[in-house]
This record gives sequence, C-alpha cells and structure tokens, in this order.
Amino acid sequence: MQFDGKSVVITGAGSGIGAAMARAMAAKGAKVCVSDLNLEAAQSVAAGFGGLAVQCDVRDEAAIQALVAQASKVHGDVDIYVSNAGLGKGDPSHAASQSNEDWELNWQVHVMAHVYASRVLLPGMIERGSGYLVNVASAAGLLNQIGDAAYSATKHAAVSFAESLAITHGADGIGVSVVCPQYVATPLIGLSDADADRAANLLTADDVAAAVITGVEENKFLILSHPDVATYAAHRGKDHQRWITGMQMLRAKALQEFGSISVSSFYKLV
Ligand SMILES: NC(=O)c1ccc[n+]([C@@H]2O[C@H](COP(=O)([O-])OP(=O)(O)OC[C@H]3O[C@@H](n4cnc5c(N)ncnc54)[C@H](O)[C@@H]3O)[C@@H](O)[C@H]2O)c1
Repeated sequence: MQFDGKSVVITGAGSGIGAAMARAMAAKGAKVCVSDLNLEAAQSVAAGFGGLAVQCDVRDEAAIQALVAQASKVHGDVDIYVSNAGLGKGDPSHAASQSNEDWELNWQVHVMAHVYASRVLLPGMIERGSGYLVNVASAAGLLNQIGDAAYSATKHAAVSFAESLAITHGADGIGVSVVCPQYVATPLIGLSDADADRAANLLTADDVAAAVITGVEENKFLILSHPDVATYAAHRGKDHQRWITGMQMLRAKALQEFGSISVSSFYKLV
C-alpha cells in the first residue's frame, strides 16, 4: 500500500522506532495519528509535522477503540494501523524469574494490543475491501532474545497472530506486515543514534522506518530490517539442535565478555 493521503495510526510512537515511522510516513504524505502511553511524547512527535496526538494505553481495548474512533473522525477511516508499542524488562535471574505481572504486561502489550486493534478495524476494512495492519514484533519472535523469556515468547506469539491475519484476510484485500528487527538504538535497549554510528549490527530507528516504508509499499509480509535475521532463521529451521547449541555459546560469550546478560550489549557479539 502507498502512504500518500492515507490515514495512519501508530502506537508507541512517542519514541524510537514508532516516532521514526511517524515522521517517515508523514513525509510520504500520510495523515498520521501519533499515539503513545506518554501523551507529551506523542504531542512532541506530532508537532514536528502537524499530526494528531492521542494518548492510548494499548493494554486497554476500550482505549484502542477510542483511538481508532478519534483518528477516523479527524483523518478518515484508518487505512494503515501500526501496532508498535513495546517494552523489555529482562529476566531478573533464571528464565522463569519475571513476575506474573511482567509476563502479563508483555502479553498485553505485545499480543493482545494487536488483537484489540484488529478486532476494531477488521469489520470496516473487510467491508471496504482495503486496509493494512503492520505489527511490530522482533527478531526475538523468529529467534530468541537471550535474557528475556517473556519478551521472546510474546514476540513469537505476535508473529503467529500476524500470520493468522495474513492467511485469513489476504482474500479480503487486507495487507499484513510483521516487522522483525534485531538490535535498534532506542531507549528500549538503552542506546542512542550515536551508538548506532559506531556499530554495523546496530541500526537507527530511522533505518528501520525506511525498511517498513519499503516493505508496506511492496506488500511484504515479513519485514527484516536486519537481513542476517533471515539467515539465522533459516539455520534454526534447518537444524534446531545446532541452533540451540549456538545460542548457548553466544550466551556464554556474553557472560564472559560483559560479566552479565545485558540486552544493550548483545549487538556487539552478533
Ligand atoms: N529497539 C530494539 O532493539 C527493538 C528490536 C526489535 C523490536 N523492537 C520493537 O520495536 C517496538 C518499538 O520499540 P522501540 O525500540 O522504539 O522502543 P521505545 O522504548 O523507544 O518506544 C516504545 C514506546 O512504546 C510506548 N509504550 C509502552 N507501553 C505502552 C502501552 N501500554 N501503551 C502505549 N504505549 C506504550 C512507550 O511509551 C514508548 O514511547 C517495540 O514493539 C519493540 O519490541 C525493538
């Protein structure tokens, strides 16, 4: 789908990849609704291009319904909805050590938010025979994020839900993309553009936004801003046992080099 003149909503767009996508899609001529839990952050991004800012906690189905209603009223029926909000807590110690509350938080933000948005948008999109759902998952949804079991499990679920959307609604004229970046210099992993300048394996949020624009314009299901992820996923599919051994070695190397498992350091090893 092309962006010019389209009504676009992006969640978690007050920061990082969401903010970069908002700016890039607005530059392509889209009418962009910038939504975030943090209203001030959303307003600051929207002010950069005269967009609409709406506060929304994506864990709340009624809030997502209200977001879609407000964006539709101001910009017209939503053509492209980007479920981007996300978070990472990390395992305090062993792989089951995150609290039930944090597992539930990951599940709500990374999976149910995508379900809630699809539930409110699909009937209208099916009726119009047009619409596009972009779900931002992660390379962790195809592979694994060492040191964050809840993030990995829920991002896998996000990829699976996007597959269900694409399989079920392709014939309805609805496009679906799932975005699976590896390391991106944003507050989520405690890094900035300056870090990305120094590292080949660490992209900026703008790099990912550019990949998403191209992917949506080409109606690509799987958007991989980091091409190596396709190779790693193929290795995993071909020989899962060997892939697990490789990941165990990567984890041991991180412990040896950094003394602990830190998501903000892994890009230095891959
Ligand atoms: N940074 C990376 O390395 C990386 C890699 C792969 C995937 N991702 C994914 O990209 C997406 C964007 O992450 P980012 O790196 O730009 O992070 P970020 O921390 O810069 O931005 C995330 C935004 O989501 C918002 N948010 C969090 N919980 C919310 C909620 N309940 N309701 C509404 N908004 C909420 C935050 O306020 C924040 O503005 C996430 O889904 C993340 O999992 C990031």
